[in-house]
Amino acid sequence: MTLPNFVKIVEVGPRDGLQNEKQVNLVDKINLVNSLSDAGLNTIETGSFVSPKWVPQMADSKEVFAKVQRKDGVTYTALTPNLKGLEAAIDAGADEVAVFAAASQAFSQKNINCSIEESLARFEPVLALALANNLKVRGYVSCVVGCPYDGFIEPAQVAMVTKKLIDMGCYEVSLGDTVGVGTPMVVKTMLQEVGTLVPMDKLAVHFHDTYGQALANIYSALEMGVNVVDSSVAGLGGCPYAKGASGNVATEELVYMLNGLGITHGVDLEKLASAGWAISDALGKQPNSKVSMALKAHC
Ligand code: HMG
Ligand code: MG
Repeated sequence: MTLPNFVKIVEVGPRDGLQNEKQVNLVDKINLVNSLSDAGLNTIETGSFVSPKWVPQMADSKEVFAKVQRKDGVTYTALTPNLKGLEAAIDAGADEVAVFAAASQAFSQKNINCSIEESLARFEPVLALALANNLKVRGYVSCVVGCPYDGFIEPAQVAMVTKKLIDMGCYEVSLGDTVGVGTPMVVKTMLQEVGTLVPMDKLAVHFHDTYGQALANIYSALEMGVNVVDSSVAGLGGCPYAKGASGNVATEELVYMLNGLGITHGVDLEKLASAGWAISDALGKQPNSKVSMALKAHC
């Protein structure tokens, strides 16, 4: 199997990461986004416009969007669950938005308070308004290999939800192992099934590292022809509705692996690691990244 020459990294730390950490102040969030763009990340999920009662950590996303230093060539994206969220994201000047569905009914109910079918119906006007505003829309599918409530998820179910999001107008769908239970062959089987309905160049992968399998899973996705990977600086975060889920794979780990494979990505590892240390200091903890710890030990 051949590996891609280039991987697009979608940095989700300021959203997926910080939504599940204790509240950090606005200045630390702004500094984080600015230091990530400075490190060469050119797609940064900067915040989400969701109910502040559900996710209070994202309540100041509007201010974050208003105050980050916009760098040319960088896409600042936002998560938008419904029309209210989309309107707020448009007001805030988000460059791109994302809707999020699940492959598991129980997770959909816990995360967005509705069934999979209801969530897809809710996204129709969101996509229509976003596209009318020339905003690209990304789709997420959560629980693509396992769910904390429903257990194993049938790959055909993942394929079906992914195809619906693409048919509705999403330019790309990110497949999320929300609880981090996947292993490389399971991921391959899931991707093979999704690939029967949706081309690989419309797919991204989004692995949480709960069981330490994220990098191995990413490698197997690269072998399958996927070349867009989500990750979170310093391994920030987790998922508020998936108890025990650790953060996304650390961007530092991903960059280090891609460097070793000779795959280009445009990110400066030293600058990235220092962005990770700064936000970890603000949170009063160490980065959840072995690469970061090793770099620190050797300098
Ligand atoms: P709901 O309670 O079903 O809907 O929430 P509602 O329409 O009845 O609204 C209830 C209240 O929320 C109302 O306020 C609304 O105004 C407000 P009240 O009248 O009670 O004061 N509201 C909003 N406020 C701000 N922005 C909005 C918004 N919408 C409603 N956009 C809803 C439905 C989806 C909004 C809610 O369930 C919610 O926000 N959930 C949070 C979901 C979330 O952010 N989850 C984490 C992100 S997903 C994720 O992390 C997975 C991913 O990383 C991939 C992976 O790892 O698998 C993407
Ligand atoms: Mg996630």
